[in-house]
Amino acid sequence: MTPDLMEEGARRSGAYARMASRDKTESGGRAAGFGRPVVPGEVDVTHGRILYLEDVTVSFDGFRAIDKLSLDIAPGELRCIIGPNGAGKTTMMDIITGKTRPDSGSVFFGSTIDLLRYKEAEIAQLGIGRKFQKPTVFEHLTVYENLELALKTDKRVPASIFFRPDSEASDRLAQMVRSIHLADSVERLAGNLSHGQKQWLEIGMLLMQDPKLLLLDEPVAGMTDEETERTAELFLSLKGQHSLMVVEHDMSFIKTISEKVTVLHEGAVLAEGTLEQVQSNERVIEVYLGR
Ligand SMILES: Nc1ncnc2c1ncn2[C@@H]1O[C@H](COP(=O)(O)OP(=O)(O)O)[C@@H](O)[C@H]1O
Ligand SMILES: [Mg+2]
Repeated sequence: MTPDLMEEGARRSGAYARMASRDKTESGGRAAGFGRPVVPGEVDVTHGRILYLEDVTVSFDGFRAIDKLSLDIAPGELRCIIGPNGAGKTTMMDIITGKTRPDSGSVFFGSTIDLLRYKEAEIAQLGIGRKFQKPTVFEHLTVYENLELALKTDKRVPASIFFRPDSEASDRLAQMVRSIHLADSVERLAGNLSHGQKQWLEIGMLLMQDPKLLLLDEPVAGMTDEETERTAELFLSLKGQHSLMVVEHDMSFIKTISEKVTVLHEGAVLAEGTLEQVQSNERVIEVYLGR
């Protein structure tokens, strides 16, 4: 869930006071960057890249979790990232979304937006959505209310739209519940959904904000086979409209959705290509698939 959405949802659910105090700085002010507005600009993809990382390095207490990592994603691409535990996949997403600052290197959104100059909440508003491993939905709100809330945090939608019942907003909501397979559950409390359904709902909430780039960390972990298949369908339908970066361990899922696969190992790219190519790569077999 994005920081602006967290804020909106907490406000709505009455937990705002609790959450605001949690985010107080030592001096009693609000944490910098929390919900700070940024005018969303166009992302310049004329060079064929919506995201690129170059020579990114980050160390935690002397341990290099990311080690001169370079990688780029084309607009509309669905990129799969695989790699053993500890390879740095989540840390890479932390760097892209501004949660972790690298020690060196560059991270650009399009050709012109230097992400290292923005805070986490601003990066979300620039159009980079992130799905963490654990589903984070507002459990005591209905499916519909969760999605409506997410739509509200889309800064391009005029507030007045919510006063017209048969507006563009309700069309978007109706379409979304269908694509995330929750059309029959709109009035259900999110807390009563299955794990897989919660994951879909959160993906739907991110999509309501119309991100240009969506980062998904192990989205099908804990899903049933059927839920996994439906998630694959959903991702394939998103390709082209959004750029997606999907970290997953489930190889049959990767096989269904992947074009280009990047293998991370020890904080750097070990191999890149089709799933077949990387699976037959000697170094990949050695460090990862053969274990
Ligand atoms: N905040 C942190 N402090 C210390 N070490 C960390 C931190 N975040 C990640 N690491 C370490 O960095 C390495 C990469 O972790 P991670 O990005 O979570 O890997 P992956 O998602 O590929 O399993 C691991 O060895 C992990 O223990
Ligand atoms: Mg991880």
